[in-house]
Amino acid sequence: MKLWAGRFQKETDTLVNDFNSSIGFDARLYKQDIAGSIAHAEMLGKTGIIEEHEAETIVSGLKAILADVEAGQVEFSLENEDIHMNIEALLTQRVGEAGKRLHTARSRNDQVAVDTRLYVREEIPAIISQVLDLEDVLVKKAKANLETVMPGYTHMQRAQPTTFGHYMMAYANMFKRDITRLEDCLERLDECPLGAGALATSTYPVDRFQTAAALGFAKPTDNSMDSVSDRDYAIELLSALSILMMHLSRFSEEIILWCSWEFKYVDLDDAYSTGSSIMPQKKNPDVAELVRGKTGRVYGNLVTLLTVMKALPLAYNKDMQEDKEAIFDAIDTVELCLPVFAAMVDTLTVRPRDMAKAASGGFINATDCADYLVKKGLPFREAYMIVGRLVNLCIKTGDTLDTLTLRDFRAVSGLFDTDVYQALALKTCVNGRKVYGGPARESVEKQIALIEEFVAARR
Ligand code: ARG
Repeated sequence: MKLWAGRFQKETDTLVNDFNSSIGFDARLYKQDIAGSIAHAEMLGKTGIIEEHEAETIVSGLKAILADVEAGQVEFSLENEDIHMNIEALLTQRVGEAGKRLHTARSRNDQVAVDTRLYVREEIPAIISQVLDLEDVLVKKAKANLETVMPGYTHMQRAQPTTFGHYMMAYANMFKRDITRLEDCLERLDECPLGAGALATSTYPVDRFQTAAALGFAKPTDNSMDSVSDRDYAIELLSALSILMMHLSRFSEEIILWCSWEFKYVDLDDAYSTGSSIMPQKKNPDVAELVRGKTGRVYGNLVTLLTVMKALPLAYNKDMQEDKEAIFDAIDTVELCLPVFAAMVDTLTVRPRDMAKAASGGFINATDCADYLVKKGLPFREAYMIVGRLVNLCIKTGDTLDTLTLRDFRAVSGLFDTDVYQALALKTCVNGRKVYGGPARESVEKQIALIEEFVAARR
């Protein structure tokens, strides 16, 4: 019998019962649901809304249920629809009368709002910690590759020289922003919706500050209608996770390119690659490809939630039950991707010679050649035009700037001298870029120090 049977003359159709039920996926909120109920029951006792001894009975009953769920001894029922009603039904079964008082001054609307917040509040630090582990890997790779020259690209065309270390720190900075976005999210969700009731609180002398404090929230939410209809914190989280996945996906895309034989910049460890069922020569970057693919899934979850919430009138609507699978799937996916991705990067081998070869072939020192003339007094625009002519000449003759003779150089400008070769050496080009944020060793060392400081402050 449904708990609302008093109002009804018919049983719920089984089709509706199954359709309506969320226990299949919200069972994972059992711990949060019990924590919320304990805080609520204690508050009911303390404020005299129920008897103290009833509150105690409820609390010990809930604790026993928690232990049994954890020991795998509880089977939730579809009949009881969701985790909230399942736990309440179990409680009443076990402790009788007192159990029936738990739902005083509460609704599943504020209950589910607090449960989901508690869940998200626990998962965010877990994700942050995984991103911090990835930062460690990037720092380690950067330190080992401060002098590993590689081509930097724009438009996927070789552009200017950089180092693999500088490149690693680009990603380290992206992930740093991801961490701060997740922290922002935590800060804003730090308000407790419990006590909002169905939407308009209640006439009991509920102490929302007590429950908020008991559950470790900074304060109660300020408006009860907003409390039960708000899923912003979940949308913010899924946005932050989407951006994080976007970063992982860009990185994956590059790793896929870099380990192809067209580039050969890196070698993935055998343990982090897969073979082909038919082509004996293959070694495939499946991990990177799956991370890239799963990015779509996380974006999908964000769009699901945005679309569920779009045009929902205040306050609670059952549509909102659809939030949970999107939230869980996004969190699960990110938590699945981060450790394997970090391990893949950690174990990959860098191929400095192949990177240097590519860096030498694509005129990536052309800007430096122009800068050489600028340092000898020529306006940049003129220098740029002259070097353009040199590149054009090289393309015709199959040369690179470094293989041109001094006579070739002087044919376009008398300012060129023997020191041009030194100026064009890739090491010079990289190490000359000592600007804050740049690829020179000392600049990258500064970037590493900043990330290390950021990481240390969070451990
Ligand atoms: N299972 C529901 C959900 O996930 C709980 C809230 C139900 N509230 C209600 N008024 N039917 O959203």
